[in-house]
Amino acid sequence: MLVLGIESSCDETAAAVVRGGREILSSVISSQIEMHKPFGGVVPELASREHLEKIEPVVSEALERANVSLKDIDAIAVTQGPGLIGSLLVGVCYAKALAYGLDVPIIGVNHIEGHVFSVAFDNPPIEYPALALIVSGGHTNLFFVPEAGQYKVVSRTRDDAAGEAFDKVAKMLGLDYPGGPVVEKLAREGAAGKIKFPVAKISDGRADFSFSGLKTGVARYVRENNIQPVGENEAPSQEIKDICAGFQTTVIKSLVGTMEKLALELKPKTLIVAGGVACNRALREAAQNAAGKLNLPVYFPSKHLSTDNAAMIAAAGNFHLERGKRSDLRMTADVTMRLQNLDNEDAELKRKKVRYRL
Ligand code: KG4
Ligand code: ZN
Repeated sequence: MLVLGIESSCDETAAAVVRGGREILSSVISSQIEMHKPFGGVVPELASREHLEKIEPVVSEALERANVSLKDIDAIAVTQGPGLIGSLLVGVCYAKALAYGLDVPIIGVNHIEGHVFSVAFDNPPIEYPALALIVSGGHTNLFFVPEAGQYKVVSRTRDDAAGEAFDKVAKMLGLDYPGGPVVEKLAREGAAGKIKFPVAKISDGRADFSFSGLKTGVARYVRENNIQPVGENEAPSQEIKDICAGFQTTVIKSLVGTMEKLALELKPKTLIVAGGVACNRALREAAQNAAGKLNLPVYFPSKHLSTDNAAMIAAAGNFHLERGKRSDLRMTADVTMRLQNLDNEDAELKRKKVRYRL
């Protein structure tokens, strides 16, 4: 089956042609990073306008690079949510019109499930149960996956996503957007043990994440030590590099420590680490070390597939299409879409007054 994947949930317009859910014939990503850089974050109105401009040429290029035409496409998979409403709507409306015109099935895909499927390429087939850490600018979740397509949330962030913390700390230090790659680069030149930030403790003992206290900790350190943000065309000082290293170490300790703890408890056969933050080499090394200790394989997406892309959406869509699942043309963008179809504990958590921002 040849699936055309379409992704437009945030600031990347992407299209990909994927055969059989595992073979990428083409994957085109048009990033808006340069456009949003001056604002230090994604401006939703600008993002949706840019998606409108780019969706048609990006899809055409994906078909061209795959050396196929629209009539060869068997189905369309499109990101339905979560994400920015204006951005999602561009992809969803375009995909629906295309599916209607071509008279082919369409499937709405959960963006987070897309990230889980990003490891379907360049890795051996996943052995279940798996434990998947999905870390991006909008999400930080650990999913227990007893079999493909089944998800139980076993850990999530109470406040900021890990990628968001990277972005905010970078902004605080006068560094470029997106913060992750810049902070990672400077952290490599910093001394990790010099400035220490604690890993947040969750008072009710759940294995959840929290990064907003860490962000405040960095802000306090900057203020109390009178550290000036890096100015334009200025080289970052050693102290800025040390802060980056200290911050990054704490984020990784929290992510990998929690994954390790839950792996001991849940005994998965495979670990998965995906999402934009999975580009981070120090995180990959720490996850690899933890997996070694647990004697488990750990799968990462290739770098191109770590940040938002449409190949992962096509792969997730292919999985559901093969099982006969279809969306109908009344399907629309859903910003609040969640990925948990197993042992959903939301009602119980609400009763216990456990609060999540996302
Ligand atoms: O998956 P993604 O492209 O978009 C979302 O679905 O959110 O992730 C983007 C996030 C940004 O917050 C960015 O700062 C972070 O991934 N990121 C990184 C690195 N590269 C991207 N974080 C840490 N280290 C990196 N090398
Ligand atoms: Zn994403």
